[in-house]
Amino acid sequence: MRPLRSDLVILSPHAPELAPLIPELEAFRRDLHAHPETAYQEQRTAGRVAERLAAWGLEVHRGLAGTGVVGVLRRGAGRRIGLRADLDALAMAEANDLPHRSRHPGRMHACGHDGHTAMLLGAARLLAARPEWRGTLYFVFQPAEENEAGGRRMVEEGLFDRFPMDAIFGLHNWPGLPLGEGGVRSGAVMASADFFHVELVGRGAHAAYPHRGRDPIVAAAALVQALQGLVSRETGPLDAAVVSVTRLDAGDSLNVIPERARLAGTVRALDEGVRTALEVGVRRVAEGIAAGHRMGLEFAYERRYRTTVNDPHQAALMLAAMAATLGAGKAHDDLPPTLGAEDFGWMLAACPGAYGVLGNGTEGRFAAGLHNPRYEFNDALIPYGVAFWVNLAEGALGEG
Ligand code: NI
Repeated sequence: MRPLRSDLVILSPHAPELAPLIPELEAFRRDLHAHPETAYQEQRTAGRVAERLAAWGLEVHRGLAGTGVVGVLRRGAGRRIGLRADLDALAMAEANDLPHRSRHPGRMHACGHDGHTAMLLGAARLLAARPEWRGTLYFVFQPAEENEAGGRRMVEEGLFDRFPMDAIFGLHNWPGLPLGEGGVRSGAVMASADFFHVELVGRGAHAAYPHRGRDPIVAAAALVQALQGLVSRETGPLDAAVVSVTRLDAGDSLNVIPERARLAGTVRALDEGVRTALEVGVRRVAEGIAAGHRMGLEFAYERRYRTTVNDPHQAALMLAAMAATLGAGKAHDDLPPTLGAEDFGWMLAACPGAYGVLGNGTEGRFAAGLHNPRYEFNDALIPYGVAFWVNLAEGALGEG
């Protein structure tokens, strides 16, 4: 592992300069947790973030992708580094009964974006006060990470034109990974996530006279089976991919062959070439099965989230910042990729950078999976996350 530059003053998660900030960040995080806002509705959240950034002397830009916020710190010439957090909550009910539980029925911070926002704010606060660094830092608070691709919209609305960056970094808490540990990897880290919708249009008939109709249920069954071959027979055994049919419905009566059958599902891949081959394959198989069964076909394919791919150089830098912050043996370079998706992929497609994780703990609600109604962001992670961001920012500014 390559170290950070030796002249950097590494900030410890236990440093006295960090301690007074922690209660404020915890309170901030819990307030966001109690008032979760979903995709592009993050008005209150964005307002609170912008207000803090401005109070600490940062230049604040609002309105990118609707509720996005960018805070800027400039200190003369030098590198330009972006640090990114996500603002949004999920449309689900919270099952925890905590004093700061969600006040908004059917909305919950079940992915820890409340904590991500608090940690990046803390880093902005400390970096505004630390004298060592030179260059420009962009603190990017993006809306709508879940489902609605707020990161993509920020890029499309000119994030990197308005705020040119040499590198950008993203971070997620990771339930089940011990507190005080972190991980990153070079290359693909999160998958693409696409969706397909198929409607097979046959001809309805009395169930006792199947030869007078065209049965879309038999065709749908054949299609579900045939789609399995795309991963098992057409994708390289060492390439990760998923094709899952997640919805199948047809028919209302026990003695009627229905007119239509509907299927839908998702396609995941860690490589854009594999992703495109699967898109072509799903369409080809659906067309072939429909033709073979004399079905009409309505087909829609939605390319939704792209792959999230870490730049090797920036991933090594992130690993070095993790090791400097957490200690030897606590920063893992072999974070396994997952076939979950993350919209930071669009930022990484437009700018070199890396996406890594810090452990949220191994017990109780801190180990409950992301998007679980009993999950919670672990406030004990805040000092680790803040220190990591500070060390990564100063490390990245000092490169090259
Ligand atoms: Ni998340």
